[in-house]
Amino acid sequence: MVVAGTRLRNDIDEIMPGVIADRRHIHEHPELGFQEVETSRFVAERLQALGVEDIRTGIAKTGVTGLIRGTAPSNGPTKTVLLRADMDALPIREENEVDYRSVADGVMHACGHDGHTAMLLGVSRLLLDQRDRFAGTVKVLFQPAEELPPGGAKPMIEAGVLEDPKVDAAFGMHLAQEQPLGVIGVRAGATMAAADRFIVHIKGKGGHGARPQSTVDPIVVGAQIVVALQTIVGREVDPTKAAVVTVGAFQGGEAFNVIPDTAELRGTVRTFDPEVRQQIAERIQALVTGIATSMRAEATVEYRYGYPATVNDPEMAELVRAAAAEVVGPDRVIEPPQTMGAEDMSYFLEKVPGCYYIVGSRNPDKGLVWGHHHPRFDFDEEALANGIETLVTTTLRYLAD
Ligand code: NI
Repeated sequence: MVVAGTRLRNDIDEIMPGVIADRRHIHEHPELGFQEVETSRFVAERLQALGVEDIRTGIAKTGVTGLIRGTAPSNGPTKTVLLRADMDALPIREENEVDYRSVADGVMHACGHDGHTAMLLGVSRLLLDQRDRFAGTVKVLFQPAEELPPGGAKPMIEAGVLEDPKVDAAFGMHLAQEQPLGVIGVRAGATMAAADRFIVHIKGKGGHGARPQSTVDPIVVGAQIVVALQTIVGREVDPTKAAVVTVGAFQGGEAFNVIPDTAELRGTVRTFDPEVRQQIAERIQALVTGIATSMRAEATVEYRYGYPATVNDPEMAELVRAAAAEVVGPDRVIEPPQTMGAEDMSYFLEKVPGCYYIVGSRNPDKGLVWGHHHPRFDFDEEALANGIETLVTTTLRYLAD
């Protein structure tokens, strides 16, 4: 594979100016989730110009897919692999002084999805050039609204993107400012958390702050609930399994001497294990209603399931790890820690085996140190070449197996 590897690197060097130009164009014109109209048009035009087949647009509003069919002979049934990128930006005002700075006021590619989209366009180009080297099909997929739960992945799956042709495996990657340029992180099993939300509505009986005996104080009930919710992780969940319950908002009352009628709590639950996820959802419900009832109030819980945990198939993770080791060297492929952040690539990985990995992009020498979702976020564009090479190599290996 030395010869092929060298050829691939030369090809990547050749297309990198174009990949960077694409990235900067997308960066300059960011669009929020489900509003990626121009981005998706740009992607579709690029795919068309490259010669990608069966381009479909407008999936889940702005999603795009296309097919690259290998032309190498095969003896037996061939496979289809899905490669996924997200296209959406964030409601953040960019503070970088770069010539590709966002022209959309208050909207910014502050997570690197501009890079993901540009990388997948580069990957498409290389795989098309090398279609005689593989049998089977590559489905490239550009999704809307990763940042906006319930997200763009789920409705794209519901629209049938995993069929016609039927997808056998899925791969995707995220640029990672928490890792330096030149490092690639691959982890088998659960890598990112499930993220759920809950809202607790507490109904008491308002009145004068000096006459509590004729009221049911929803603030005191809420305070008991906040404390009790912390005992779920502390006392009920298996301590070897990670979980978080956070109450991030507590609203009720306006005046210092008035007991309000109602109060509201809002929070998030993060888990890796589906059983723990279910356990916590049930216990929140039971604690909230039990405490409210015992304190003469009424309370209801709106529990909203968000992205499931992102779980990498061990074999697919090994495939990526081996490819990444060839790209950056074995000692620069790390097993990153699990993160309590969430990602809707998880929906694809629930349906088919695959792997979601990270590509280090921080470079202090160039001042590129700000984290994701920061108004000064920017990444080292050399990371794009590492991401492209890893994904192309992984894809060719997967289809060759
Ligand atoms: Ni992101």
